[in-house]
Amino acid sequence: MSKSQPLSYSTKQQVVLQLDKLNKIFNQGTPLENHVLHDVSLQVSRGELVALVGTSGSGKSTLLNVMGLLDVSSSGELRIQGHLTEGLTDPQRTQLRSESIGFVFQFHHLISAFSVLDNVLMPLMLRYGQPSKTQVEYAEYLLGEVGLTQYMRQPTNRLSGGQQQRVAIARALVSRPALILADEPTGNLDTQTADEVFELFERFNVEHRCAIVIVTHDPRISARCLRTIRLTDGCIVYDGASADLPSVLKVAP
Ligand SMILES: Nc1ncnc2c1ncn2[C@@H]1O[C@H](COP(=O)(O)OP(=O)(O)OP(=O)(O)O)[C@@H](O)[C@H]1O
Ligand SMILES: [Mg+2]
Repeated sequence: MSKSQPLSYSTKQQVVLQLDKLNKIFNQGTPLENHVLHDVSLQVSRGELVALVGTSGSGKSTLLNVMGLLDVSSSGELRIQGHLTEGLTDPQRTQLRSESIGFVFQFHHLISAFSVLDNVLMPLMLRYGQPSKTQVEYAEYLLGEVGLTQYMRQPTNRLSGGQQQRVAIARALVSRPALILADEPTGNLDTQTADEVFELFERFNVEHRCAIVIVTHDPRISARCLRTIRLTDGCIVYDGASADLPSVLKVAP
């Protein structure tokens, strides 16, 4: 991996995310030790739309943070687009994250003083400084795709919750990542707005073939993802077709 070899949008590496016996132990070796993820192994390929479900405290956000290189695992292996992440330096992790992964959170973390367009461009500005004309055009195109062209020059605090989440989705896509990680992106929205936001994920999943892992408590949304992974106490208890999820596992959100 080097600065001159961008990793994003590689069509050769179909497996975008690979975890092998991953463990996460918070406060290891202290009285507050908490073993949250237990031998988690999974693989996500380009173009997949995966729901990550489980009761509160089961470890979904912890898993997403480790998968997104926002946190480190305690043991096990994590590969992003074929790159083994253990042993990378902090700058290498940052580079791999910014080239391969886009994030969408429940609370979108937009910068309210900045315009909608500048918020979308933020990941590129952090990486390259001043964005190029092509990058600005792509950000404008994405804002068109999420139906916000007319708000482009406005500060984000003038937008509704659903509109702000759509800005966050455009921001996650602006660096053309192979993987989108979304932590309860519709958790804060009413049903209709949640559906509209989820439809954007579906569309980008098909049109850009990015792999998407979406944490959700909403059974309507997980049912619309082809694949569901269910965590219980930090262990994968189901990984397969959403349609085949045993009803006993559907009960608790
Ligand atoms: N930084 C941390 N330090 C110590 N323990 C943590 C930390 N972050 C999370 N935990 C613990 O890890 C466990 C899993 O938390 P996590 O936030 O991953 O759950 P979750 O499945 O995302 O829950 P929710 O659905 O409520 O968001 C919890 O017991 C939590 O207290
Ligand atoms: Mg969580």
